[in-house]
Amino acid sequence: MTSAEAATTAAFQITVQPSGRAFSANTGQTILAAAIQSGVGLPYGCKDGACGSCKCKKISGTVRHGEHQPKALSADEEAAGLVLTCCAEPLSDVVLESRQVTDESAYPIKKMPVRVSTLEKKSPDVMQVRLQLPAADTFRYHAGQYIEFILRDGARRAYSMANAPHTQTEAPGVELHIRHMPGGKFTDHVFGAMKEKEILRVEGPFGSFFLREDSDKPIVLLASGTGFAPIKALIEHLQFKGITRPTALYWGGRRPEDLYMHDWVQARAAELPWLRYIPVISNALPEDGWSGRTGFVHQAVLDDVADLSGHQVYACGAPIVVDSARAAYSAQRGLPPEEFFADSFTSEADKHGG
Ligand SMILES: Cc1cc2nc3c(=O)[nH]c(=O)nc-3n(C[C@H](O)[C@H](O)[C@H](O)COP(=O)(O)OP(=O)(O)OC[C@H]3O[C@@H](n4cnc5c(N)ncnc54)[C@H](O)[C@@H]3O)c2cc1C
Ligand code: FES
Repeated sequence: MTSAEAATTAAFQITVQPSGRAFSANTGQTILAAAIQSGVGLPYGCKDGACGSCKCKKISGTVRHGEHQPKALSADEEAAGLVLTCCAEPLSDVVLESRQVTDESAYPIKKMPVRVSTLEKKSPDVMQVRLQLPAADTFRYHAGQYIEFILRDGARRAYSMANAPHTQTEAPGVELHIRHMPGGKFTDHVFGAMKEKEILRVEGPFGSFFLREDSDKPIVLLASGTGFAPIKALIEHLQFKGITRPTALYWGGRRPEDLYMHDWVQARAAELPWLRYIPVISNALPEDGWSGRTGFVHQAVLDDVADLSGHQVYACGAPIVVDSARAAYSAQRGLPPEEFFADSFTSEADKHGG
């Protein structure tokens, strides 16, 4: 082996406190990639330096950060010893502190071809896309996780699975809720040329946004727009597992049509005594005839709940909603930061300061 090869394969030990879980990472490999490879459940979302979900404290060791957004990790935070595991390569053994490390089993991450089985417009800018997966074996994932489409040029786009895994009864398949972002590389295709039977490539499952079943705390589910997709999977999973923790779903949109499965949620709330549904609209027009709650959805939780210190919050959707909730719930309502679980739907616009 040449010295250059030895340098690229040298493994450093990464230890996560307080759990004491340890794994090795090669130079040139990010800490998160190594954790995923080793099946260690560190928290993460975008894997691309945009959302901040993987931020944690470095207790010792040296890392080098690749490109990332200042809003995910500011220079001051970096100087204070915080790291983004998705962009940080170890330059020595490293000890991190992450209270959200999970012992949930990590399911194998697979690349596979999928076929679009149905396309159904749920609102002017939301498409429900069902994908048929290879029949050979069941696709295992935690409700709340996401898959990535691998596009022809190698670019990737992440979408949360909106159905809980147990719903794959007849054949392996997943449901996605995709919002059109005009000018977007993938969603212009979904709302343009995409047809049923189209074959695409995906990889998954990814993500740390899933129910922590070792807790019995009451739950706040916070969704903005298509952030409802993984939340729907969580509700299906709670129902399937017979979990009756008091759960309040706050779903926000600009207009009532943005709550594109409002009837589905109302039906679940009528059926499940532990589930409350609070729809919140920020920009209702007179012709909408909206008589429900108005304003920002994360604010509705602050208005209703004086103390979140004994809750878990699961938040999903627009980065601004997730970031506002994360900051306000801890600072103003006493939510322990490790009880806030989120997937921020970052896009190219967020990665380029848009
Ligand atoms: C963990 C995760 C889960 C997600 N789950 C979902 C989901 O369930 N449903 C969902 O709808 N979305 C989800 N998303 C968002 C999704 O992955 C895509 O980012 C989104 O659909 C946009 O993809 P696109 O290719 O159409 O747009 P992109 O090509 O990413 O562009 C997005 C927008 O930015 C603009 N843009 C492109 N390049 C630039 C640039 N260089 N500078 C400034 N602006 C630019 C485009 O015009 C467009 O308006 C998720 C994201 C993450 C990280
Ligand atoms: S910033 Fe690291 S996962 Fe998003």
